[in-house]
Amino acid sequence: PHPNALPPEMLERIGRDIADSYDEELELELDDRDLDPDTLLPPHARSDEEKEARRMYFRELFRLQAELVKLQDWVVHTGHKVVILFEGRDAAGKGGAIKRIVQRLNPRVCRVAALPAPNDRERTQWYFQRYVPHLPAAGEIVLFDRSWYNRAGVERVMGFCTDEQYEEFFQTVPEFERMLVRSGIQLIKYWFSISDEEQNARFLSRIHDPLKQWKLSPMDLESRRRWEEYTKAKEIMLERTHIPEAKWWIVQGVDKKRARLNCIHHLLDQIPYEEVDRPSIALPEREYHEDYVRRPV
Ligand code: ADP
Ligand code: AMP
Ligand code: MLT
Repeated sequence: PHPNALPPEMLERIGRDIADSYDEELELELDDRDLDPDTLLPPHARSDEEKEARRMYFRELFRLQAELVKLQDWVVHTGHKVVILFEGRDAAGKGGAIKRIVQRLNPRVCRVAALPAPNDRERTQWYFQRYVPHLPAAGEIVLFDRSWYNRAGVERVMGFCTDEQYEEFFQTVPEFERMLVRSGIQLIKYWFSISDEEQNARFLSRIHDPLKQWKLSPMDLESRRRWEEYTKAKEIMLERTHIPEAKWWIVQGVDKKRARLNCIHHLLDQIPYEEVDRPSIALPEREYHEDYVRRPV
């Protein structure tokens, strides 16, 4: 729809959502430019209350990210293996949470697997086969941005798999996940939950924000039409695949920032990490060779 056709509350909401995405960039900028979160100018005027909420958000995010760094050290030190799955409807905020988790971590220790739709060759393989090469070795954390649960969600709802494949998935998935756990992998599964109207608002803001348009796929538009089918598929999936070895955790996603903080906080609670002593580091003296030419940089 044309922006003028939207009710003012919706426009206001889109404005907020766009501003929220600028916050995301600001967080990344803080990293490079050493800006003070207290003095950052907000993208548009905000109430004192909003400014305070924003300060609290940054403060807590940075605290949690520092804990994630400790967790990472511990994972490397102990050779722990971790898989974290992120599932949820389109625009539920999986991507944003994943970004905050990996932001301060070493990409060789903590990486993201976001597989594209299967190609013709992959379609003929054992369904889980293409996910297996992405599983962690000792001392690694892998975040799956969508996962093998595609079969129970998008593939079911959009008709990309047969009824037999769908049923076979549910037969296999608990066995598959138990095998992973027995092999020493810790498996944590998150479902990001958003409301119908929140998804609608986020899609609209994707339509109106040139920086976000790439996120809006034809699949997303179709998923609006099939909201009810997705609800049903989600309920079946959560019920049939919630096993003691690998439980589902629901993240309330309508408030994006709260969802990120809650998710990271919960994740930290799941892993029994302790602070690992690091040897103190001194930068080595630089050696200059005879032929060393000093150039302006
Ligand atoms: P995303 O929301 O992850 O940015 P899409 O909305 O385009 O991506 O697609 C949702 C999911 O559906 C993706 O994991 C994608 O791999 C999967 N998918 C898309 N098309 C197919 C297909 N033809 N068969 C199986 N899976 C598909
Ligand atoms: P089918 O078994 O494919 O013939 O689907 C039977 C009905 O269930 C159809 O109306 C589907 O739209 C609906 N349906 C959609 N997704 C699911 C699901 N994940 N589980 C069960 N039924 C579904
Ligand atoms: C999200 O917001 O959940 C992710 O960005 C996935 C998507 O594009 O819908």
